[in-house]
Amino acid sequence: MISKETIDKIFSTARVEEVISDFINLKKSGSNYKGLSPFVDEKTPSFMVSPSKQIWKDFSSGKGGNVVTFIMEQEHYTYPEALRYLAKKYNIEIEEDSKELSDSQKELQLNKESLYQLSEVANEYFQNQLWKTEEGNTIGISYFRERSIRDDIIKQFQLGYSPKEWDSFTHFAYEKGYKKEILEQSGLSIFKEGSDKGFDRFRERVLFPIHSFSGRVLGFGGRILQNNAKTAKYVNSPESEIYHKSQVLYGLFHAKSFIIKEDNCYLVEGYMDVISLYQNGIKNVVASSGTSLTVEQIRLIKRLTNNITVLYDGDQAGIKASFRSIDMILEQEMNVKVLLFPDGEDPDSFARKHSADEIEAFFKENSKDFIQFKTDVLLKETNGDPIKKAGLIRDIVGSIALIKNLIQKEIYVKECSRILDISEQVLFSELAQLTQPNIHSRDRNTRKQVALKPVTTSQQEEIDFTYKIEEDILELMLSYGDHEILINYVEEEEPYKTTVIEEIVHRLKEDDLQFTVDFYNRIYLEIMEGIEKNQLRTGEYFVKSKEVDITEFAVGKLLKKYSISNNWELKEIYVPTLEQNLAKNTKDVILKYKAIRIAEMNKNLAKELSSGNISEERRLEIFNQIITLDKLLKQIHKLENRVI
Ligand code: UTP
Ligand code: MN
Repeated sequence: MISKETIDKIFSTARVEEVISDFINLKKSGSNYKGLSPFVDEKTPSFMVSPSKQIWKDFSSGKGGNVVTFIMEQEHYTYPEALRYLAKKYNIEIEEDSKELSDSQKELQLNKESLYQLSEVANEYFQNQLWKTEEGNTIGISYFRERSIRDDIIKQFQLGYSPKEWDSFTHFAYEKGYKKEILEQSGLSIFKEGSDKGFDRFRERVLFPIHSFSGRVLGFGGRILQNNAKTAKYVNSPESEIYHKSQVLYGLFHAKSFIIKEDNCYLVEGYMDVISLYQNGIKNVVASSGTSLTVEQIRLIKRLTNNITVLYDGDQAGIKASFRSIDMILEQEMNVKVLLFPDGEDPDSFARKHSADEIEAFFKENSKDFIQFKTDVLLKETNGDPIKKAGLIRDIVGSIALIKNLIQKEIYVKECSRILDISEQVLFSELAQLTQPNIHSRDRNTRKQVALKPVTTSQQEEIDFTYKIEEDILELMLSYGDHEILINYVEEEEPYKTTVIEEIVHRLKEDDLQFTVDFYNRIYLEIMEGIEKNQLRTGEYFVKSKEVDITEFAVGKLLKKYSISNNWELKEIYVPTLEQNLAKNTKDVILKYKAIRIAEMNKNLAKELSSGNISEERRLEIFNQIITLDKLLKQIHKLENRVI
């Protein structure tokens, strides 16, 4: 873990304008570089940098942030990866927060490092065995040749060969000084209980090293050379501290730049499928390697693109498994297409029979969106049986319900209605039963979502309004939270001096109010935490958040505060509206918010009353609460009218 001091140092040293220039130069020098496209078009200033605020914003994508999130965006790095990149650039020594690492954690780290090392050593060993030994040549290389894999591809994917001998690698590693424990943990060697005599896990197999996102070797898959049924076709490295197969995708390291470039990722099942497609021009391809797809694997892809195309050979079991994968991808708010191969073909056999152009054309023409795919498959099963068809509809609506973006959702409902010949209304009501409108997400489209039919009700509009006011309150706090104000709610009261943040937090705490939108409340809780530490956390604080969505939100608010003069600089021109009469604006928004929340509570209570089945005791309680709330509401309205 990088220490807080180091993080602060990185933030105070790294200059967002410098880092961004690096990337422009990279682009200008003609290297194959994606991103920053709006940059070059100077007539449409859609990318802004503020050296004084140390923030950037890309108006074409809506993204924005600080110097660290810029690197995260451009390089698809995680937060610590981006920090390390900047530390390197600015020669900042990274202090690890060793205080927080216990001894056993340190040991684990050491252990992890040596596991990485050992995997690297093994990887080299197996490649040498393939290329430089007689056995490797006659058995390994000829196997790959038989399967038409080119030498350059063998080298690029670092494919290797493990000899027949029982312990050749174990012996080699012992000689290099690796101990039994680490050899056993890596799974490369297997030991009989109580014995130091180990033998190799991989023997007489061709080997596929499995790389991490950033290219480190984590483990291996080894294929037998003849398809005899005696042993498993593939032997794989077991789970270890560095290899978690549910978190790895085979081929991702090689595919990642192509996934970005194509803005799509093909997902296949096997090592050979990846290699074969890659060799034949489809380079944006990864495999889940025999395990069923996991959320972690999908998230790895999501770092690079929002689009996945799942490739399947047409067997029935595979298709059913694909349904689960589709739903998981949809749940990650990604777009999913499915490509089914002709009978008897899999990606590997298909790739070998066709030219790169043909493959590409076939993929383009036959990728179906998931609705089309699912209906095609399921309709075949229903045979016109209306009950089965109803089941099918529910199944598909179940998938649509997983999509969080309501605009997308509506598009799919339309399509589903067309394909299945069912009215949209019916589909929507089916959908409504499955989904509660989800306003607790800060999707850019949330507000539009809420306004979409048919989930729109007057209650929805109210929620929409709450959402808006919560955003307004945060805007005040992020933009002017540390400004001093003189405030009083009624004339006869002496005005008192406070700050915007303190006033708002104090007034909300008074009534035990927190924000209803999760995302906003996360920010609000951090502001409250700040007060306890005597800090006024405004936008300047939040643009350095390590949570990208918060940074982005804060940047948006800061930018609104400063208007934009040209492509490169943000001139700090006053936007007077909010800041003028800050005290009044603060009071206004607090009172308005309280009124809304009280009305909402009242409504819920009234609903409970009308539901009938409540005890007499509860009924009285509710009446009392409603009366109290009504009084409060009247007071607030009075105050609202008097606020000058
Ligand atoms: P496949 O049987 O489709 O393998 O299994 P493949 O990669 O296409 O290999 P070829 O074409 O037969 O040479 C798909 C994946 O399932 C895992 C492997 O990751 C394989 O790539 N698998 C398969 C195993 O882990 N063990 C096995 O015994 C079989
Ligand atoms: Mn295969």
